[in-house]
Amino acid sequence: MAIHIDLTGRRVLITGAGQGVGRGLAHAFAAAGAEILINDLHSDRADTVVDEVRALGAQASPAVFDVTDFEAVTDAVAAAGAVDVLINNAGNAGAEGFGGRGPFAESEPSAWEPYLRVNLYGAMYCTRAVLPAMIGHKWGRIITVVSDAGRTGDANGAAYAASKAGAAGLTRSIAAENGRHGVTANNIALGTMRTPMTETFWAEHADSPQAKAILQNYAIRRPGRPDDAAALAVLLASDHGAWITGQTIPVNGGFSFAL
Ligand SMILES: NC(=O)c1ccc[n+]([C@@H]2O[C@H](COP(=O)([O-])OP(=O)(O)OC[C@H]3O[C@@H](n4cnc5c(N)ncnc54)[C@H](O)[C@@H]3O)[C@@H](O)[C@H]2O)c1
Repeated sequence: MAIHIDLTGRRVLITGAGQGVGRGLAHAFAAAGAEILINDLHSDRADTVVDEVRALGAQASPAVFDVTDFEAVTDAVAAAGAVDVLINNAGNAGAEGFGGRGPFAESEPSAWEPYLRVNLYGAMYCTRAVLPAMIGHKWGRIITVVSDAGRTGDANGAAYAASKAGAAGLTRSIAAENGRHGVTANNIALGTMRTPMTETFWAEHADSPQAKAILQNYAIRRPGRPDDAAALAVLLASDHGAWITGQTIPVNGGFSFAL
């Protein structure tokens, strides 16, 4: 069997693709020939990545909307026409990356909301918006970017961990309901990444005891790069991924508490 991945003719919606992991995924899907809808809250970020993708020779359009606004999500999906592949990537880990964290016992419900709204409801809204047409076409791929935090727990990041664990459970349920319709759903669980979300930390504290303690748990002792998950996402989105569903696949440099 020849392995050749060509996503020509597939339309891919990537949320939060204006920077970081989503931008890395956009570049990879462009290389595979897909047409890409670049979503972000910020139109300047989306436009920049659209230009980058076009420069790689692929078709791209900006799709500027807030994934936490269900009406905006459904309007954007209707305007786009069919979406063959949805990548739920937009995420919120706290306004300052590693900042805004603290013990759950001292937290207020209002502080949990931004995590749940973007990471869980955002994935639910986008999935709900694209799924009926995928079922109608008997083909679809949903990939959700989650976090090791949702699997292992995250001291001082309980709301983030809960939102990512919730999104992973959503994926498994979508997979169970829709495999018979030709729709797969999987999670990619990332470990600690160096992206704009966490750049302040890595730029200022890369040699700190805190950074060393983090990397001590990674067999490959560096934070992830935005394109580390790209080839896996392209594979899952292709016809070669047709029998992979309901899974949470770690892309995490061999993270383990046991190291
Ligand atoms: N950075 C890490 O260490 C890390 C670790 C594990 C998992 N993740 C997950 O990977 C994904 C991407 O993370 P990143 O580091 O590239 O993040 P990032 O903050 O660098 O980029 C996220 C992008 O999403 C956009 N966005 C945020 N809220 C949005 C909304 N409501 N609607 C539309 N767009 C929105 C932002 O404008 C931004 O451009 C997230 O789901 C994140 O939780 C990141």
